[in-house]
Amino acid sequence: MILIIGAGGQVGQELVAILREKHGKDKVIASDIRQVDALEAPFETLDAMDGDRLKEIVDQYQIKEVYHLAALLSANAEKQIKFAWELNMQSLFHVLELAKEGKINKIFWPSSIAVFGPTTPKNDTPQETVTEPSTVYGISKLAGERWCEYYANKFGVDVRSIRYPGLIGYKTMPGGGTTDYAVDIYHQALEKGSYECFLKEDAYLPMMYMEDAIRATIELMEAKAEDVKIRSSYNLGGISFSPKEIAESIQKEIPDFQISYNPDFRQQIAESWPSSINDQAARDDWGWKEAYDLDAMSADMLKQLRIQKGMD
Ligand code: SER
Repeated sequence: MILIIGAGGQVGQELVAILREKHGKDKVIASDIRQVDALEAPFETLDAMDGDRLKEIVDQYQIKEVYHLAALLSANAEKQIKFAWELNMQSLFHVLELAKEGKINKIFWPSSIAVFGPTTPKNDTPQETVTEPSTVYGISKLAGERWCEYYANKFGVDVRSIRYPGLIGYKTMPGGGTTDYAVDIYHQALEKGSYECFLKEDAYLPMMYMEDAIRATIELMEAKAEDVKIRSSYNLGGISFSPKEIAESIQKEIPDFQISYNPDFRQQIAESWPSSINDQAARDDWGWKEAYDLDAMSADMLKQLRIQKGMD
């Protein structure tokens, strides 16, 4: 039995759907802090900081595998620093402890490109390099990575993790991140024909199409334990582009699309993160290979959103 914590979020909703397709609906328990209309039963309300409630659900359903996705993302975390730290850390501890006690066998927990900071090499950022994050979110993800590795080494906990780049999908909206613009821009392109970006035109960031990210997650979780050599978190590269480049890619489909720039505090967060990521370790250890480039992603995003918005 599988439990998804934070199932109502951008990644959660997609993972629930895929895992239910694979394992059967009743084998995948969705949970979130409140009821989510888009999620069908089996569903349990769970505040990820409530360890007792988590244990109750794990016992009730005999959960053996947990995808722990609940977190406050980078922009929101800057506004609620103490809460972000508490949520992001406590919830991880609860899950790691259950694995240490032998109740659950396998954990997926996402880390982020936010573990890197202004002193990290910006281009082709290596797996192992300087990690001095300057955001609350990044500090919590880096600490989380260290704890994952610690529990793996000391207690044999089978925890697996990916440093997700910005994730772009048409099924769900992200909430409170710095890379969210790259989802919103497609919606606005179709609805208004223009977009005002909160980052500068040359703010290069590593991104990934959701289909690739979900496939990576499943492939990592299905890899043989001995092939998962990194127990902190794997770099995953994806596609690197700037707001200007994604706009140009949209213009190939919508020639009149216009972009303007009005950077806010998120520009500073973006500037502290890498422009591109080296993911050789993921390729070598568990055979990772991405499928989408920027134009393939734009074409599919616009096609799917046109259908969704009844514009087809
Ligand atoms: N997409 C995330 C954010 O912008 C990065 O992990 O916060």
